[in-house]
Order: sequence, then structure tokens, then C-alpha cells
Amino acid sequence: MKGDKRSGRAGTRLLVLLILVFVCVPFVVAGEYPDIGPLPKRKAPKPGLVEMGKRLFFDDRVSGDGAISCSDCHDPQKGFSDGKSLSKAYPGTKYFRNSPTLINTVYKAMFFKDVGWGWDGRLGASLNDVMRDQITETTIMNMDMRLMHERMKQDPVYVKMCMENFGGECSSGKARKALVAFLETLVSRDTPFDRGRLSAEAKKGMALFKGKAGCIRCHNGPYFSDGKPHNTGVPENFEIFTDPIRHLTYRAVLTTHGTPKVMQWRRDVGYFIVSKDYRDVGKFITPTLRELKYTAPYMHNGVFSTLEEVVEFYNQGGGKDDPLANELRPLGLTEDEKRALIAFLESLSSTSPVTVEPLKIPQEYEPIENWLEVKN
Ligand code: HEC
Ligand code: HEC
Repeated sequence: MKGDKRSGRAGTRLLVLLILVFVCVPFVVAGEYPDIGPLPKRKAPKPGLVEMGKRLFFDDRVSGDGAISCSDCHDPQKGFSDGKSLSKAYPGTKYFRNSPTLINTVYKAMFFKDVGWGWDGRLGASLNDVMRDQITETTIMNMDMRLMHERMKQDPVYVKMCMENFGGECSSGKARKALVAFLETLVSRDTPFDRGRLSAEAKKGMALFKGKAGCIRCHNGPYFSDGKPHNTGVPENFEIFTDPIRHLTYRAVLTTHGTPKVMQWRRDVGYFIVSKDYRDVGKFITPTLRELKYTAPYMHNGVFSTLEEVVEFYNQGGGKDDPLANELRPLGLTEDEKRALIAFLESLSSTSPVTVEPLKIPQEYEPIENWLEVKN
């Protein structure tokens, strides 16, 4: 008996070793960086829950004063970003960063365990936390979760949806789950890259991406990001300092996060807000490169309006900052090579845009008799 157990254990060890060899060898062969490739399939969320999430996404009542919904800043007609360099914000404030796309955002949780959301990684540790942050953050939707709970309880449609999806009354936790289910549906669908239908030019661009241009050093894996903060020296968008409202919003966010020397910074400090380590000033989390066709302008502050500008920026070796990321250096790309790189970047966007039909949600509350009827 004992002998059997021992040889069983040795067998298991051998099996583990074999599995490790099989898993690791392809990575070593493919180079130092996780290879780019198609996005893995995800489990489809429940349709009823998606419908509830979609309704919340378009509902102005999710914001404190009932003036804005998620879709105002993450517009389905604009790749779920907003087309502006700097995002709008809760009425009375203006934001100091670009609104990121929500397409494929669900993959962040899948690929990166230790980096939060947002350009600087400060928004929540899970997507569910990000939902809470976006809803309650004074500069975004400025909503009190108890008030949201109350508003949902007074809307017969939500009452019905909560009953059907959760078998109970509405709560902010259920709303967050529904919003995440809706985000699960926003994934790249038919990109030439994922379908293996690259043009000859895009193929040349892919070779540059992995070789001479070195983009894969940071934009790697199927999400085209290493999930880590880097300083690429993107120029400041000075509107953050010249527009008093944006300026105040920026200083307020620094203050809320206990950032040292709040009043002294003349730049967006980026990941420093999270780490408080001076070596991280100016670092931002590597964003995905999927769906760029629909999400201009680019970078955390929208300073570049075209992919041509972005590629020229990298061709120069990034911006002027010290210390810049080690991975950057002047690339010496020819005009043909720049065009090929752009063709490759474009092949990472869905052929027909990932979008949904916007919902118009009536903002008046129905007479109480009606909703009592639904509830029973
Ligand atoms: C007033 C504009 C605005 C509204 C309203 C808004 N967002 Fe955002 N959202 C932003 C901006 C700007 C960021 C980036 C913040 C940063 O990095 O400082 C962001 C970041 C995010 C992220 C992180 C994306 C990533 O890849 O890191 C998610 C997810 C998100 N928002 C979802 C939502 C949802 C869902 C709603 C509605 C409940 C919502 N947002 C409402 C502007 C907005
Ligand atoms: C040192 C790591 C690193 C390397 C190498 C790198 N990037 Fe980036 N990339 C980043 C980071 C970090 C950002 C966000 C910077 C910011 O917003 O300030 C970014 C942003 C971008 C954006 C804007 C995306 C958006 O949604 O706004 C594009 C496009 C891009 N990179 C393309 C490339 C290309 C093409 C290459 C190769 C020529 C490359 N990158 C090389 C780290 C890197």
C-alpha cells in the first residue's frame, strides 16, 4: 500500500514536470514576451442580466443629479469612449483624462491580477469595484449608493428586472453585477487580426511590431498590454492647467488619494497617485491597442489625434522625460514601415464597429398604482 502511494506521488511529480515543460517551452521559443494572439472566448453572460445592465448604462438617473449616464462619456457610437481629448465629468467639474474605451475591458480582470483600472491603475481592484467607483466618484457620477437603490426601487422596470434576475428587490450590488454583465458583451468581434486575414502590408507591420519597432515589449498578449505602468514621455495636455475647472478637478483627485506635494505638480503624475513612489511619476498603465480605429484621440490625455502622430512619437524614441522607459529608443522607421505599422494597428479593430442601439430611458417615475401591480 505504502509503496503504491509513493510511486503514485512520483508519478504525479513527473506529470507536473512534463506539463511545466510543455507550457514553458513555447514561451521561451516565442521570445521574452507573451505573444499577441486572438482573445480567448468568455462565458456568455445571462441575457436578462445584460438587458438590465444596458438599461442602467443608458440611464441618467444613475448619476446624482440625473444629468449624465455612463453612455455620455463611453459613447457606443464612438467606440465606447467619447471622441474628446479630455473627458467631460459630473456637472460643475471637467475631467483631466481621456475617456477610455470599454470594449474588451472585461479582459483586464482575466489577464492582470494586480493592476487596477483607469489610466493610472487607481480605479478599483476588480471590475465590480470600478463600477462602484464610477458611480460614486464625485467627479464622475457623484451618486450615493443608497439613493440609487431607492431610485431603482421606484422604477417598475428595474423592480421587475431585479426580481427576474436575482429573485429579490433591487440593490446597488445587483446593479453593479448587471453593469459588469453588459460590459461582458463589449468584445472585439471580427478583427482581421483575430481571423488571420492580414493584408500583406499589415503582415509586414506585425513583423515590425514584434521586431524593429519593439512595440511588443509593452503591448503584448492577446489584450496587447502587459498591464504595467511605464513612462513613455507623452507631452502634457496643458488644458489641465489652463482650464481652472479641470485644474481643480485634478488637484481634488490628487488630494483624495493622499498624493504628496498636491499643489506643486505641473504635470499629470500618473501611477505615482497609486504608488507614491517618485520613480513612478509620469507612468501610465499600457493600454490595449484593440479598436483604435474607433477610439481617437489617443493617450491618457488625448494629445495625439491620429495613429500617424502616435507612430511618429515612438519613431522619435518616445517623448522627453527622465527617466523614460528602458524599452524606448529612436526606431529609424522608413515611411513605408510607418505605414505598415499603422496598417497592422488598424487590423486590430473590428471590421464593423462594436456598438449597441442606444436606449432612451423615460425619466419620469410611473404612478405608484402601476408599479405596485407589477410587484405583486
Ligand atoms: C463623466 C464621464 C464618465 C462617466 C459618466 C462614466 N465614466 Fe467610466 N471613465 C471615465 C474616465 C475619464 C475614465 C478614466 C479615468 C482615469 O483613468 O482617470 C473612466 C474609466 C472607466 C473604466 C475603466 C476602463 C479601463 O480600461 O481601465 C470603466 C470600466 C468604466 N469607466 C466604466 C463606466 C461605467 C460602467 C459607467 C457608468 C456606471 C461609467 N464608466 C461612467 C469617464 C466616465
Ligand atoms: C515602454 C512600453 C511601451 C512601448 C515599447 C510601446 N508602448 Fe505604446 N503605450 C505604452 C503606454 C504606457 C501607453 C499609454 C501612455 C499614456 O497615455 O501616457 C501607450 C499608448 C499607446 C497608444 C495609445 C492607445 C490609446 O488608446 O490611447 C498607441 C496607439 C500605442 N501605444 C502604440 C504603440 C506602438 C505602435 C508601439 C511600437 C512602436 C508602442 N506603442 C510601444 C507603452 C508602450
